[in-house]
Amino acid sequence: MIVEGKRIILGVTGSIAAYKAAAIASHLTQSGALVDVIMTDAAQRFVTPLTFQSLTGRPVYTSMWGGSGEGLGSHIAHVALGHEADLLLIAPATANTMARIANGLADDLLSVTALAARCPILIAPAMDVGMYGAPATQANIEILKTRGVRFAGPTIGRMASGLEGLGRFIDPEEIVGYARWVLGENGPLRGRKVVVTAGPTRESLDPVRFLSNRSSGRQGFALAQAAVDAGAEVVLIAGPVDLPTPVGVGRVKVETAREMEQAVLEHAVGGRPADALIMSAAVADYRPGEASGQKIKKSTGTLSAELVANPDILMSVASQKNRPAVVVGFAAESQELIANAQDKLDRKKLDLIVANDITATDAGFAVDTNRVHFVTGESVEELPLMSKEAVAARVIDWVSERLAAS
Ligand code: CTP
Repeated sequence: MIVEGKRIILGVTGSIAAYKAAAIASHLTQSGALVDVIMTDAAQRFVTPLTFQSLTGRPVYTSMWGGSGEGLGSHIAHVALGHEADLLLIAPATANTMARIANGLADDLLSVTALAARCPILIAPAMDVGMYGAPATQANIEILKTRGVRFAGPTIGRMASGLEGLGRFIDPEEIVGYARWVLGENGPLRGRKVVVTAGPTRESLDPVRFLSNRSSGRQGFALAQAAVDAGAEVVLIAGPVDLPTPVGVGRVKVETAREMEQAVLEHAVGGRPADALIMSAAVADYRPGEASGQKIKKSTGTLSAELVANPDILMSVASQKNRPAVVVGFAAESQELIANAQDKLDRKKLDLIVANDITATDAGFAVDTNRVHFVTGESVEELPLMSKEAVAARVIDWVSERLAAS
């Protein structure tokens, strides 16, 4: 993923939320980033450098004048650290640290690094509601924003003080999402719009019952994240699934196939047309002819409901003048995988169809992995078993290359 091999400086400051930075350091390190932690003096009152050193496997910087085994004059080295980094992430950031950075102070290692940094700066504030709302803090945030500093949160919630309000540190997972978004912004899909569909659709039988399918939405959400990692503007049109929206993604919630068709036509064809459409949703092909307005009551014997065909969304897109330059479909098949996929590729006028055999136990609907074939008009490529995230990255690479060549 995007953070792999990236150099990230994680600045930790003296907020009660400092312990949550450990989860960020751990997540980024496990994803393959080289994480150099700088702690302010106040941060060390809440957590120890050893925590971060153990999680990152790298030295932790605590002072301009040495510390954590460093010698004098080490601040020169840290100016270099700031120059080489891909991202300076300050999480949690106190009002005091933001004030120092907004005013260009350079009186500790973190502020020196921020002043000298050439990489993007991302700040996740955490403080009490009164401090966050204070005019001085808000003015400092404005200054930082006008200078291009990005912010992750804060959110509204319960604080350590027991008060409720704006100032709460956002979840470490979400902060990692912001980091991915910033790291990816100059990727191969910069300036491109990508529309992804995900999840099942749901067709009502009556107010309490519906027809749907086993799609978890995970592959589609992974595609949306991979498109953000590549720098795209992403619209994710998702059926009813309970998954967090990746940071940087605009999510449109739909229920039925007809709602999904409307949303796809609006976001991928109408207005500013998308450069690419990736239909990974498992669209219900049929719906009850007429949903009952009242709950269907039990009676003896059998019950039958007439089903009528839903629109084929890819077919609707294929007939549009402003059709996206690249259209990708997915084919879940239980037999004749390649032949069926090729047939869909032709009928739906696709550039690529990602075919998977849903009878395999390690691929498809409810598992984390997928075993897919990339089928185009020219070739069939069999990919090994991999995570849905890895499949998503491969699809986005394919789309990027195709768009670059068009
Ligand atoms: N699809 C669509 N509209 C539908 C049904 C499917 O746009 N009403 C899209 C899916 O999102 C997927 C591709 O078409 O990208 C293939 O979906 P699949 O269900 O495999 O194909 P169907 O055409 O429905 O064929 P079948 O169910 O008979 O295999």
